[in-house]
Amino acid sequence: MAVQLNYIAPPGWQPENPDQDYLVIQFKIELADFVDKKKFADAAASVAAESSTGTWTKVDEGPQSGIKMADDMKAIVFDVDEANFMFKVAYKTDLFEADNMSGFLAGPAGNIGGMKMVKGLRMFDVRFPEKMVKAFPGPRYGIEGVRDLLEHDDNQRKLPILGTVPKPKVGRTAEEQAVLARRLWTAGDGSYDFVKDDENLTSLFFNKFDDRARLVHQVQLEIEQKTGKKKLYLCNLSHSNLDVMLKRADLIKETGGRCMMIDVIATGFAAVHTMRLKNPELVIHAHRAMHAFITRESGEGIEGHGALNGFSVSMLTLAKIFRLLGVDSLHTGSPKAKMEDYGESEEIMRVLTQDEVMPNPKFLSLGQKWFGTKRVWPVASGGLHPGVMDTVLAKFGRDCYIQMGGGVLGHPQGVERGVEAALEARRAVIVQGLTVKEFVTKNPDSALASAVSLWGTEPKLVY
Ligand code: 3PG
Ligand code: 3PG
Ligand code: MG
Repeated sequence: MAVQLNYIAPPGWQPENPDQDYLVIQFKIELADFVDKKKFADAAASVAAESSTGTWTKVDEGPQSGIKMADDMKAIVFDVDEANFMFKVAYKTDLFEADNMSGFLAGPAGNIGGMKMVKGLRMFDVRFPEKMVKAFPGPRYGIEGVRDLLEHDDNQRKLPILGTVPKPKVGRTAEEQAVLARRLWTAGDGSYDFVKDDENLTSLFFNKFDDRARLVHQVQLEIEQKTGKKKLYLCNLSHSNLDVMLKRADLIKETGGRCMMIDVIATGFAAVHTMRLKNPELVIHAHRAMHAFITRESGEGIEGHGALNGFSVSMLTLAKIFRLLGVDSLHTGSPKAKMEDYGESEEIMRVLTQDEVMPNPKFLSLGQKWFGTKRVWPVASGGLHPGVMDTVLAKFGRDCYIQMGGGVLGHPQGVERGVEAALEARRAVIVQGLTVKEFVTKNPDSALASAVSLWGTEPKLVY
C-alpha cells in the first residue's frame, strides 16, 4: 500500500531544543497563478517534503522501503503565516552531514526552486544547530586575529580598517599597480591600511597574477620595514581550478603576503571550504561578485509581506554560510548605496560580529548562536567616499573594513589627497568625536573639505 507522509506540524508546534535537534529555515512562497490560494499549506508541505525525505507522489511502504526512517527524518512545517505566505521548516540536525555545506544546500536550496506550484520563493534565513556550527572551520583570524596580525595598539584597535581598490578596475600593469600601492600606503601619515584587487582582475596579459603578487608584496614589505606599520594586500587569486588557487596562495605566502581575496560565490562553497582548510596562514577576504543573481528580490516580498517576484536566497543566509566556512572579512553592501539595502546590511553586520544573535522580525531573521565561532569583518564598499565616514561607522561600528575606490582615487586634488581625506575623516569621527560636516566647517582647506565639496556626505548610488 502506498503512503504519503504528513509534513505539517500540529498548530502551535515548536521544535524543542532547536539549537541541538533542528536546523530551522524561514521561507516565503508566491503561489503560481493557476494554484488556488487555499493550497498554500500543501505548497509549504511540498517544500518540506521535497527538501527532506519526500517526493511528489505516494510511494511503496513495503519491506526495505526506508519509509520508517523517511518518516522519522522528515522536515516539519510550522509557524505558518497564511496571510503572508510565510512559514518555517524544521529539519532534524541529523538529516544533514554536519560539515558538508554543499550537501546541506542541495536539500533546502535545491529542487524546491523548480516547483511548478510556486512562481516565487525566498529563503530568508537559516538557524544552524550547534553540531553544524562546530563542524565547520570558522574564521582562522576573524576581527581580533587580523588586528593582532597588523599589530594594532590600543588606539588602532578603535579604528576601522581603510583601503582602496584601484580604479579603473582593470587597466594598470602589475608594475603600475605596485606604484599605486606605494602611493596609497605612504600618503598622509602612512596609516592607510589595505589595497585590494577588483573582482575581475585575475591574471591578464598586461597584469599577470604572479607579477602583481610579487611586486605589490615587495612594496608592502619595504614600507613595513621602513615604517613598522603592517599593511594588507587583498590579493585576488580567484580561479575555477582549485589547483591554480592553491598555487597562487603559495605564491602569496612566498612573497610575504598575508591575505587572499576569493570571489566566494563565483568560486563556490567547496572552493572556499578547501582554501580555508589548506591555507591557515592566510587571511581570507571574501568578495561576493555574482551574489546579486542569488540574493536580489525586487518585489515587496523581500520584507516579508507583499509579493515575491522571483527566487532567491538572502545575503543574510550567505553571510552565515561564509562565517561557518571561515572567511575573515565579507562584503556586506554599503549603507544606502545599494538598491537592496533596506537596512539588511546592518542585520548582516550583526550576524557576522555577534556571538549570540537575537531573532529580528524586521528582517525575518531567526537569530543564531555561534558557540564561539570567530567574528567576521563586515566590509562596506561600493560608492563610498570620505564624506560618508560617519554614516558608515554609525551603521557598521568600528570593527569594519571601509573600501573606497573611486572615492579616494577620484579626489579632485589627486590620490594622495584622497587618502588624506579618508584618514582625516576616520580621525575626525573616531578620535575627535566630530561629524564629517563639523570637521569640514572647522577645516575648510582640508582634503576632506575638498572631497565633501565634490561628493557631499551621502553614499553614491552605484549601478
Ligand atoms: C569593490 O570591489 O569593493 C568595489 O569595486 C568598490 O568600488 P568603488 O569604491 O569605486 O565603488
Ligand atoms: C564592487 O564593485 O566590487 C562592488 O562595489 C562590491 O560590492 P559589494 O561590496 O556590495 O559586494
Ligand atoms: Mg569591485
